[in-house]
Order: sequence, then structure tokens, then C-alpha cells
Amino acid sequence: MSNAYYREEPVAPSFDRAPACPFDPAPEVTALRAEQPIARLAAPEGAPGVWLVTGYGLVRQILADPRFSSRYETQYFPMAGGHLPPAPVGDLTGMDAPQHTRFRKILAGKFTVRRMNLLTERVTEITRERLDAMERQGPPADLIEVFARPVPALMICELLGVPYEERDQFRTYTWALSDDPEPEAQYAAFIELGKYLQDLALAKRAKPTDDLLSDLATGSDLTDEELGGVAAFLFGAGLDTTTNMLALGTFALLRNPAQLAALRNDPGLADSSVEELLRYLSIAATGMRGVLEDVELGGTQLKAGDTVFIALNAANRDPAKFADPDMLDLRRSAAGHLAFGHGIHQCLGQQLARVEMRVAFPALLTRFPTLRLAVPDEEVPLRTDPSQIYGVRSLPVTWDRA
Ligand code: HEM
Repeated sequence: MSNAYYREEPVAPSFDRAPACPFDPAPEVTALRAEQPIARLAAPEGAPGVWLVTGYGLVRQILADPRFSSRYETQYFPMAGGHLPPAPVGDLTGMDAPQHTRFRKILAGKFTVRRMNLLTERVTEITRERLDAMERQGPPADLIEVFARPVPALMICELLGVPYEERDQFRTYTWALSDDPEPEAQYAAFIELGKYLQDLALAKRAKPTDDLLSDLATGSDLTDEELGGVAAFLFGAGLDTTTNMLALGTFALLRNPAQLAALRNDPGLADSSVEELLRYLSIAATGMRGVLEDVELGGTQLKAGDTVFIALNAANRDPAKFADPDMLDLRRSAAGHLAFGHGIHQCLGQQLARVEMRVAFPALLTRFPTLRLAVPDEEVPLRTDPSQIYGVRSLPVTWDRA
């Protein structure tokens, strides 16, 4: 076969990041982008073709092409030696058109400008309350526990309309889900939370309040099961992601003091800083698509039944798209980054996530001018499982009391 990229030998790159550069994609993945922006991955005998796509242009092309399916059951996962199970009910990222179109239309119609404006007001209040609590508690602290998780968790409560008196219980589930060291306890929390959200969704049908879940419950044709599923999906899509952006973003800023100082001293930098942090960190590092029909991509022939892994993080560091891509530069225009995906599945919650970050980063840095890591950089525990949203498991910080 003659084309620019294809090599006969499959590759088996390590997905381990370099400890000295925890924000960069794995060095072997970065090296592949320069040599083979679409590369065949080693897979067990008899398995379908599995590809890793790292180049910006190719990744964007796949995300906009309906021949690449989002349905999990079309995707072969070599680490598990089989195809993935179908997505749970209500998970939009595991659907194709026309099923996806139906859900997307319903949801997009409820993420209204009015609702986003209401949420913006609440972000500012919630951020202030959390910073007050952090100050009262005093240093040192785990930034995830005191700030990076509570802010998005409370925003999800606002979005779904979790009643105030139930928020402590809600917090217990979310803690157990992310932090309980026992896998059985995590699983139990997952089941409990699912049940809670299902009940909450049904309660909104009976007695709607002013929130997105009530809008969905009363103004859509979603079945009870679909409504509960969508609530659980929104919870999953909005919490872990924003938590990790806030925590890993703070870590990255603390490692780049000149950039941090620029953001602290110039509130006008908030918007571009958020876009650049999204690009630079690309916490939703890898996605997958199943190939529905034979297709030529960048001169390489893919077959129906193949699977592609999409390295969003490598694409967002492609020098063909961004100059000096490995530099965190809060003043640059990171427009066109793929941190929220691209095409029909592009993140529905991106405006909310942006608002949370535009408010939270400057507020944190201004309230705590001496904020710093409480442990050496290399002791910050990273989330190393490549199938997870990337981030830190905790971020120990300290500061001087005023
Ligand atoms: C910084 C935080 C966030 C990041 C980095 C992020 C990233 C992403 C990405 C990459 C996708 C596309 C997945 C794919 O193509 O398969 C996506 C989809 C989605 N996100 Fe986000 N997200 C964030 C925050 C949120 C928030 C706060 C919400 C809502 C509460 C949300 C709701 C969704 C939904 C509903 C989808 C599915 C869209 C669809 O499939 O049509 N996300 N997100």
C-alpha cells in the first residue's frame, strides 16, 4: 500500500505520561503524531483493525463524519479483548442519528440562554461561599475536596434542581463515587445515585420547579427511564470533567508562575485563559469511534468494523494547528481547540463549564494570593488510567493566612 502514513507493522505505544511533564500527552503518542498521525495499533489475533489518530486535521475530520459511529457496541476495546457494551439509557455520547438527534434536540432546547444566565449568577455565589469555607477551614487543604469538586457539584444540583435539604446526601454519593478506596463502595454509590436521580426526575414530573430537569420532565416526550438516564448522564458529564479542569488547571498555573501572575493581575484574561487551559490540558484525552463502512482517511484505508481511538490531547498539541503547542500561553487564541469535541456530539454543557471556570480560577487566585502546593510537584497524585478523564486524585495546597 502506498500512502503517506501507513506502515505495515502495528505499533504499541505506551500511554504513560512523562512524570516531569504531567500536562503533556504521553511522549510516545506525541512522537507518533509526527510520524504517523494515523497509526495501526497492535491488537490480538483475529481482532478488527484498531487505529490511533493523533493529527488535528484527521481527528476533526472523524468527529464530523457519520461513517464513524459513537455507539459503544461498534467499538472494539483491545485491552478488554472485545466490543464495549451498549451505552446506558440517556447517554448521548453512545448514540448515533437518528436516536441521538432526538435526544440532542430535546436537551439543546432546555439549555436555554435564560437558564444559563440564571446559572451564571449562582456560580458567582457558590464560588464565594466555597472560598469562604476554605478560608474558615484554613491551610493546608485538598483543593479537590474544598473547592474543585464542590463548585461543579453544587452547579449540577442547581441544573437538576436537587432540593437544598438533600444536598448533603447528594454530596455523600459523589464523595463515595470518586474517593471511596473500596471498589464495592464506589459501585454501591453509583447504584444509589442512579436510583436517587431516577426518583428525583419522577418527582419533577409530579411537582416541577424552576430547573432544567423539571423542564425536561414536563416539556419533552422522554419516558421515565430516559429521563432518569439523562439526569444520570448529565451528572457524569458535568461533574468529573469540570472538577478535573479546576484542579489540574490550578496545578498547571502553580507550575507556571508567570502565567498565574498574568491571570491574577488582568481580569480581562479570564476568557482566553480558560480556552488555553482547555486546549493545553485536554482532560477528555481520548475518545473512540467505530467504523461503519470502508473509508479512506488521510490516504489510509480503514475497513467497516475497525475501531479508531482519537487522541484529543495530541490533536490539541499539533504544531500544524497551534504555534508552540506545548507552551501554556494564556494570551494566545486557542480557538478551534477540540477539548469539547467537535461535530454533532460537541459538548452540550460547554457554556456552563466555561462560566464555572471563568469565575472560579480568578476568584481562587485573588482570594489566596499565596496559594501554593503543599507537597513537591512530583508527589501530586495523577489519574493515570487513560480511560478516565485526566486530572489529579487530590491537590494538596497551602497558603499564608491573612
Ligand atoms: C470542562 C468541562 C468539560 C469538558 C472538558 C467536556 C468535554 C466533553 C467532550 C469532549 C464531549 C464529546 C464527547 C464525544 O464526542 O463523544 C462532551 C459531550 C457532552 N458534554 Fe461535556 N465536557 C465538560 C463539561 C460538561 C458539563 C458541565 C456538562 C453539563 C452539565 C456537559 C454535558 C455534556 C453532554 C450532554 C455531552 C453529550 C453531547 C452529545 O453527545 O450530543 N459537559 N463533553
